[in-house]
Amino acid sequence: MGTAKLTLDGQVLELPTVVGTEDEVGIDISKLRKETGAITLDYGYGNTGSCESAITFIDGEKGILRYRGYAIEELAEQATFAEVCYLLIHGELPERSQLDAFVQKLTYHSMIHEDMKKLFEGFPPTAHPMAVLSSMIVSLATYYPHANENVDLNIMRLLAKAPTLAAISYKKSIGQPVVYPRNDLSYTANFLHMMFAVPAEEYTVSPVLDRALNLLLVLHADHEQNCSTSTVRMVGSSDANLYASIAGGVCALWGPLHGGANQRVMEMLARIYEDGNDYRKYVDKAKDRNDPFRLMGFGHRVYKNFDPRAKILKRVADEVLDELGIDNPLLDIAKNLERVALEDEYFIERKLYPNVDFYSGIIYSAMGIPTRFFTVLFALGRLPGWIAQWKEGRDSPKTRINRPRQIYTGPKLRPYVPLDRRG
Ligand code: ACO
Repeated sequence: MGTAKLTLDGQVLELPTVVGTEDEVGIDISKLRKETGAITLDYGYGNTGSCESAITFIDGEKGILRYRGYAIEELAEQATFAEVCYLLIHGELPERSQLDAFVQKLTYHSMIHEDMKKLFEGFPPTAHPMAVLSSMIVSLATYYPHANENVDLNIMRLLAKAPTLAAISYKKSIGQPVVYPRNDLSYTANFLHMMFAVPAEEYTVSPVLDRALNLLLVLHADHEQNCSTSTVRMVGSSDANLYASIAGGVCALWGPLHGGANQRVMEMLARIYEDGNDYRKYVDKAKDRNDPFRLMGFGHRVYKNFDPRAKILKRVADEVLDELGIDNPLLDIAKNLERVALEDEYFIERKLYPNVDFYSGIIYSAMGIPTRFFTVLFALGRLPGWIAQWKEGRDSPKTRINRPRQIYTGPKLRPYVPLDRRG
């Protein structure tokens, strides 16, 4: 690929292009400000590449999502979450012995320092679990202050301890005793055990739920430079430690326009149900420019034809509810909303399709996960992606501290007026 030419006030600047493995073209503007004094302005960064990355490929027009070259459909069908973590972080699928060693470490590091349990006591039972999770992840930096000196070990610690932290925050919020991790269970089964076992009763992890959770985590494991991942890379670009960088990602994911959407989807479906099940009224509200209401779980910055993860989850939602014998009226509302919206000119024109969050909430709720806790599950799934992206940014010689520019629109220089003369 050649160069791009930019003409600014008669000055012509030749800008080199960078071409990715899938023929994506980027115009390298790193010399723009030095040569012309101008910067580019791109609200929401929709046209801006912030890095080169070998981790995840998305083609939003074609509905393609691949981790390290492997199609999400194949990984969802065949891989365990532990394998996907290894793949994202190390770049290749593990051989049997590598996977065994990886899983052994995931198990071995799953306990948290006993003192950390005291930190949970400072939160009110009503605390949002994303606030607790981000606080607890950054608190790990106080127990492992040299995280950036032994990165691989701390990556394993973070991956192994995150489900334990999440499950303790849940148990605390409902006033139940904490359940310790079990080394004989898989990553996902252990998490379900810590969430739902109670000392007074036998608890056996349902294979249906275990499979569904594994799939949900795999589907959420990475999604290239989205809001939370860019946050992780941005925090990491200042050489902040692993725990601080990932805690930043958890906070970014919390927002309802990002990972928090799955909680909002369920709240929206419940609201429609309680309001007489008139889903058409809500489709009309979403179309009304004077009404701030949006159909949660619809639309995506990148996917403009369909979200491949939503396609897989739609099928799984049916299977899980079927196998568990759950008849959820909210799923019927979801299906009706989807049908009506997909036939509606407003949604067709704007290429608004159900995204991954539209179905994940229905499955989480069938699993017994409370609505406020959904985004925590998203965070657990996204953890290996954040880690891989943080590591890639850290290891790349091209990484500089992330520091965007701005176009200043405030007042020009004006003299300070002393307080007694301001009236
Ligand atoms: N309901 C109704 N209208 C919508 C919706 C929606 N869910 N999403 C977008 N639109 C409309 C906008 O009003 C706008 O219309 P206009 O052109 O007439 O002004 C147009 O579609 C484009 O929308 P933008 O907000 O410019 O699209 P953007 O790419 O910035 O936003 C986003 C994407 C944030 C996901 C948006 O679609 C949205 O708010 N969806 C609902 C929240 C949601 O489900 N978030 C989860 C995203 S997936 C994830 O994080 C895993």
